[in-house]
Amino acid sequence: MVWRLVLLALWVWPSTQDVFNERDNCPYVYNTDQRDTDGDGVGDHCDNCPLVHNPDQTDVDNDLVGDQCDNNEDIDDDGHQNNQDNCPYISNANQADHDRDGQGDACDPDDDNDGVPDDRDNCRLVFNPDQEDLDGDGRGDICKDDFDNDNIPDIDDVCPENNAISETDFRNFQMVPLDPKGTTQIDPNWVIRHQGKELVQTANSDPGIAVGFDEFGSVDFSGTFYVNTDRDDDYAGFVFGYQSSSRFYVVMWKQVTQTYWEDQPTRAYGYSGVSLKVVNSTTGTGEHLRNALWHTGNTPGQVRTLWHDPRNIGWKDYTAYRWHLTHRPKTGYIRVLVHEGKQVMADSGPIYDQTYAGGRLGLFVFSQEMVYFSDLKYECRDI
Ligand SMILES: *[C@@H]1O[C@H](CO)[C@@H](O)[C@H](O)[C@H]1NC(C)=O
Repeated sequence: MVWRLVLLALWVWPSTQDVFNERDNCPYVYNTDQRDTDGDGVGDHCDNCPLVHNPDQTDVDNDLVGDQCDNNEDIDDDGHQNNQDNCPYISNANQADHDRDGQGDACDPDDDNDGVPDDRDNCRLVFNPDQEDLDGDGRGDICKDDFDNDNIPDIDDVCPENNAISETDFRNFQMVPLDPKGTTQIDPNWVIRHQGKELVQTANSDPGIAVGFDEFGSVDFSGTFYVNTDRDDDYAGFVFGYQSSSRFYVVMWKQVTQTYWEDQPTRAYGYSGVSLKVVNSTTGTGEHLRNALWHTGNTPGQVRTLWHDPRNIGWKDYTAYRWHLTHRPKTGYIRVLVHEGKQVMADSGPIYDQTYAGGRLGLFVFSQEMVYFSDLKYECRDI
């Protein structure tokens, strides 16, 4: 009986309060105002160019900015082009802006707009002009155990100083095929498990990424890598500092040394072992980038290898490995560690590169099926 009432309520309520999908200009984003400034039929809240008429919404470089308004001019290299960056001259890949005044926290002297400057505010992200601190511990009462006031206590919050991110979750991700036109292989097929803390890629595919929507400056990212088949011996790994399908860092691990079967447009020789590469592609997705990704070494205009494990150790079938990435864009510090149990399988040691000041995280595959990425965990490490 109760359930019938609930169902009836759900059926009646939308007709009066909400907008049905067929005439909703953002079917996947809650927008009761249905505002559509550029009149292209796509609501402002889900329009990749809210001020430019672009009904087709094309985004060829997969950076979530539509081609019609995408200029990729980004002076601080944080992945947000100058005219859309809430701190154009200070890198803040996460774009955090807790008082929503349009000025990002990274360049706002008063992040919560309570009149107390950040450097002496006892709750930097929460409005508390009275600065009440009854126990006198230096942290204001209103943000005592929850610094960013997102209702997730700091001890459980993967980003305690960012109310937009509180847990590792890849349930929502953007599928980025890196060779979308090529028909050498099919595009990857991703399956979500464990509330987005595990992704499984089942196909023997062209290169591709599943990239999450959360954005990071300093970050730690770890996960377990397991290939559940003895078929094939190719690449799997992860990406970080993802800004577009032309600009990202990738860590990839090949089982067996092999020349790529297509020797055009460039000959690609992939060594076994873990590689750390920076992608800055002048062509974008397609066969140039595909071959450059396979190749261990540098391909001008595409990919630079920052580190390759000189021991050339490949991964083993049916074996769990745990990776840990440390990325500190301010100094350019990058370190990749891979363990099998307690044993270190690969360790890049400190690598310094400042091409990108942060971005999004994701999982990477190239021609390897049945890859399990489990127990994924990311944590903000800003300050
Ligand atoms: C990427 O490459 C282009 C041209 O090859 C270069 O002008 C640009 O500075 C590079 N970007 C970064 C962030 O290094």
